Amino acid sequence: MPLYKEEGLSPKIKKILGNSLSKMIELRIKNNDFEGDEGQTISLFTDGEFCKKLVLVGLGKKEEKVPHQNELLGGTISGIAKKSKAEKISVFVNEDFESIAYGIILGTYEFTFYKKTDSKAKELKDVCFLTNDSKENLEFLKKLSAFENASILTRNLINTSAGDQVPQDLANEAKKIAKKYGMKVTILDNKKLKKLGCGGIIGVGQGAKDGPCMAFLEYKYKSNKKEPSIAFIGKGITFDSGGMNLKPSGHVETMKSDMSGAGTVLGTMQAIAELKMPGHFLGVIACAENALSDKAIHSGDVLKMYNGKTVEVVNTDAEGRLILADALSYTEKNFHPKNIIDIATLTGAVVYALGYKITGVLGNKDEIIKDVLDSSKNAHERFWQLPLDADFIKATKGDFTDLKNATDGVRAGTIMGAAFLQNFIEKTAWAHIDFAGTSWAEKPTPTTKYGATASGLRTLLELAIKHQG
Ligand code: BES
Ligand code: ZN
Ligand code: ZN
Repeated sequence: MPLYKEEGLSPKIKKILGNSLSKMIELRIKNNDFEGDEGQTISLFTDGEFCKKLVLVGLGKKEEKVPHQNELLGGTISGIAKKSKAEKISVFVNEDFESIAYGIILGTYEFTFYKKTDSKAKELKDVCFLTNDSKENLEFLKKLSAFENASILTRNLINTSAGDQVPQDLANEAKKIAKKYGMKVTILDNKKLKKLGCGGIIGVGQGAKDGPCMAFLEYKYKSNKKEPSIAFIGKGITFDSGGMNLKPSGHVETMKSDMSGAGTVLGTMQAIAELKMPGHFLGVIACAENALSDKAIHSGDVLKMYNGKTVEVVNTDAEGRLILADALSYTEKNFHPKNIIDIATLTGAVVYALGYKITGVLGNKDEIIKDVLDSSKNAHERFWQLPLDADFIKATKGDFTDLKNATDGVRAGTIMGAAFLQNFIEKTAWAHIDFAGTSWAEKPTPTTKYGATASGLRTLLELAIKHQG
């Protein structure tokens, strides 16, 4: 039971708890044993009629509430359940049911693949939300369940080591989803990409033993739309060593997570299918390993991209934009989607701009950016728009090539990443999501002990819901 500081029990809650349990709690509050400070918890063991154990969770002062507080509360609740080895819990929900529920789902996740786990360990199986059973809430539970399964897939993929997951493995995941849900899947392997002239992704992937690939997952159900309403495109760098511009210690350790965009797109497509959403959607993953070897691209190499433009590789660590560029122009030319939304751990700069809690979004049309921002609000995720003005796009021009993949002296790294990508969109409404700051948690939070956060997934799912039909 979450309680704000000085909140006390409402008559409604007292009625649910009954006289003796209510009195017990009120006594603890009266004796300053539970003051409701943020993070404070106390446990009361009961006769087991209503529950075996009641845990009060302090929320601090109501007027000092911060964004995401209820999601973190959900995470804290899942932590309490785990510590208590509870298989069944009930949660009093007096506000923001969705955030609390998302928090519980996120906080319950554990990545156990590499652990010799105790198979007898109890797991949280049932969560009962003590709130109203409005049509809206019941509808939300369906979405929550699809989100849960998708978030597990996405987080497992992101948390898996690069030694165990090469580009083709991600394409195989796309194949698995396609088979399970009856979607059409197309894989472009190294050979096909070469033949098509996708010099960007070929160049980035050429240093690794396992070659690059792209996968296209097409979902169409109860829709007469000829073209996809949205193409979701994810960056799938299975490991980003930086290449010749080798990443130093402190920056390279978590680079297995540089395929977060691809993992999120796969999760989104699975959730769409699980919800049997009417609509036409395309999921695209562009996969490669940015390795350093005698075969890797050199600084100064010139790549010819799928759309014919030439790019000087000024910095081999700015590889995400090179693979996405080919994926964007190939998707636009061959699938004609109404909207394109890419999601990528593209720049370290977004961490300087927005930190670890807020995701950046940029794009070429106001309407699609508004769509992304609105969807992020519905999903209870924090997104913020960064400007993508024409002078930044001009600054991506090359000296003796059409473009270069990095420009000295501009700084605005996240804007420059997006500016580069815009050269590969001809006319389609396009938004670019940079979640390099939010896709991975280095420090533990109530919702992510360590590793992949599943950030962005809910927003993409809301976008699909908005464009269904
Ligand atoms: N994968 C990185 C971005 C990144 C940084 C993701 C931190 C997650 C956490 C990306 O490929 C990269 O290295 N970008 C460079 C671009 C620069 C060389 C223009 C960067 O941000 O430093
Ligand atoms: Zn890089
Ligand atoms: Zn990268």
